[in-house]
Amino acid sequence: MTICYFTATGNCLYVARKIGGILLSIPQLMRQEAITIEDDAVGVVCPVYNAEMPMMVRAFMRKAKILTDYFFFIYTYGAGFGEAYAHAKLAAEEAGLKLSYVNAIQMVDNFLPYFDMQEQIDTLHKKNVEGQLETVCRDIAARKTVDVKITAFTKAQMAMYRKRLADKWLRKDTALSYSVNDSCIRCGICAKVCPANNVVVTKENGVKFSDHCEVCYACLHSCPQHAIHLPKEAGTTQFRNEYITLNDIIQSNE
Ligand SMILES: Cc1cc2nc3c(=O)[nH]c(=O)nc-3n(C[C@H](O)[C@H](O)[C@H](O)COP(=O)(O)O)c2cc1C
Repeated sequence: MTICYFTATGNCLYVARKIGGILLSIPQLMRQEAITIEDDAVGVVCPVYNAEMPMMVRAFMRKAKILTDYFFFIYTYGAGFGEAYAHAKLAAEEAGLKLSYVNAIQMVDNFLPYFDMQEQIDTLHKKNVEGQLETVCRDIAARKTVDVKITAFTKAQMAMYRKRLADKWLRKDTALSYSVNDSCIRCGICAKVCPANNVVVTKENGVKFSDHCEVCYACLHSCPQHAIHLPKEAGTTQFRNEYITLNDIIQSNE
């Protein structure tokens, strides 16, 4: 089994590790000229971003040639996933694949404009992550299949979420609005954890963001000085999955 994953704060890496198999980082695969993955089972593990998949995961689905009899998609999310299953099914179909199985695991919501990370961490036990994971792992081991029905109502919902959420938040120029305060020591970790190579750090000029952001917030959640900030944040705590180290995030995204 091969799992292709995208992670900013570790939830998806944790889930990918729990499911098992060969783990491949989507940001690193995307730096290859061509991507071919062949295995008896191939899965994508990625976060829900504004009721869809991250932009890079969508691009990966268009670029990768995946050869398998069992293709699955596991999302992690915090509050709600809208019509993300339909997005997975349609992205698979576009890639000439049948989506055999899809599921979503509710974890900490790292969407800092809306959620206080401390409150998310303090209430995580209510989400029973391990129980959700057990179900997903059992289903995949049994090669369980699910069918996602896409109706006219589904399509209307997808359009509504796209207009209200994704068009507003998933913008490549997002990081240009981030600020970096004086506590920055120019260590370069923000550049190392960025899955999109959107950050350059130099001793002379400090942290400079560019216009191909994935809006994953890896930079600000991973900053050891907590120096990077959004224009509006719902809390003052940073987040990383408790079983994942900073080095894991660097190794996934650098
Ligand atoms: C830009 C952005 C948009 C998000 N949108 C949603 C959403 O629509 N619904 C939701 O439940 N969680 C949303 N989240 C939360 C993530 O899906 C969730 O925290 C995920 O587990 C993070 O995975 P990671 O730790 O592997 O990066 C969003 C996070 C970000 C950064």
